[in-house]
Amino acid sequence: MAVLIAAPDRDLSVLLARIGELAPELDIRSLEQLSETTDIDFAVVWKHPAGLLRQLPGLKAISSLGAGAEHLLTDPELPPDLPVGRLAGARLAADMAAWLVARVIGHWRRFDQLRVQQNERRWQPLTPQSPPVVGLLGLGVMGTRTFQAFRSLDIPVAGYSRTGRGPDDLDIHFGPDGLKTLVSRSDYLICLLPLTQHTRGILNAELFKHMKTGSVLINVGRGEQLVEPDLIDALKTGRPGEAILDVFSTEPLPADHPFWNHPQIHISPHCASITHPREAAELIVASYRRVQAGKPPLGLVDRTRGY
Ligand SMILES: NC(=O)c1ccc[n+]([C@@H]2O[C@H](COP(=O)([O-])OP(=O)(O)OC[C@H]3O[C@@H](n4cnc5c(N)ncnc54)[C@H](OP(=O)(O)O)[C@@H]3O)[C@@H](O)[C@H]2O)c1
Repeated sequence: MAVLIAAPDRDLSVLLARIGELAPELDIRSLEQLSETTDIDFAVVWKHPAGLLRQLPGLKAISSLGAGAEHLLTDPELPPDLPVGRLAGARLAADMAAWLVARVIGHWRRFDQLRVQQNERRWQPLTPQSPPVVGLLGLGVMGTRTFQAFRSLDIPVAGYSRTGRGPDDLDIHFGPDGLKTLVSRSDYLICLLPLTQHTRGILNAELFKHMKTGSVLINVGRGEQLVEPDLIDALKTGRPGEAILDVFSTEPLPADHPFWNHPQIHISPHCASITHPREAAELIVASYRRVQAGKPPLGLVDRTRGY
């Protein structure tokens, strides 16, 4: 039996070498080495080519190579009962938390302004405003680690999840009213939701109306959660006052997209947190060992729920 690792836009050399060190007995194949496919019983994929799953009749389970699994769940060729896993390791979550802390602190403590002052040779200490309130949409693996990071800095955090589940010591909201309450209290509203039919377009004109004037929207979930024209309109009203976006409905962001040179929008090319090859190698080996033992893969996704 064999494992396929398919991620056409990634350099897999470190990942494959590390799996070879950890589990030399495993037969691991990449897309380039794919002549025989019937003996593949586990596949780990990221943005896989259309039609790939049709060529893998022996699959017992499949995993996303990253934390999101929507690219798999929306493949019409995904066999209905196949267990789907995902890789959301501690390093990935810590990197996400670090990125968000850096973005919020950099904005709150006005790092951009300090650079301007430096360019002008101006010595002018900036006194911090009181700590901002951070609102977290999504309290899963990424959201919980992000909460812990802000909490360790005594920055107030509130959260929102579908069921009200989340860390014990966090103020958690849920339901439509809970969403409005959280949004209206947040100075920095961070979206860390998975993409599902319920979260698609959740960052829209109606939600922006409840944001504080001058607050900042940060989207590191998925681009399709943001209604992009609604954001452009909302920024004119100051609610939100700025947006920090890592994910977009079309990636790469098209060269003529209005976000590129919008003065209130700060963009990054979907790199808030990227799967580390060494961590992924360990998780893939552990996940495959579970599948071989008749258990579900790591990070089992509830296919009806969509995450
Ligand atoms: N930009 C990047 O570089 C990057 C990197 C990694 C991940 N991500 C994104 O981050 C997402 C979250 O990852 P994760 O590992 O934290 O996911 P997760 O562990 O599955 O957690 C999902 C969270 O979202 C909540 N949720 C789901 N649907 C909801 C809804 N309709 N309304 C309110 N809350 C809802 C869940 O609430 P319940 O627990 O109550 O069900 C849970 O708190 C990924 O799916 C991916 O899109 C982005």
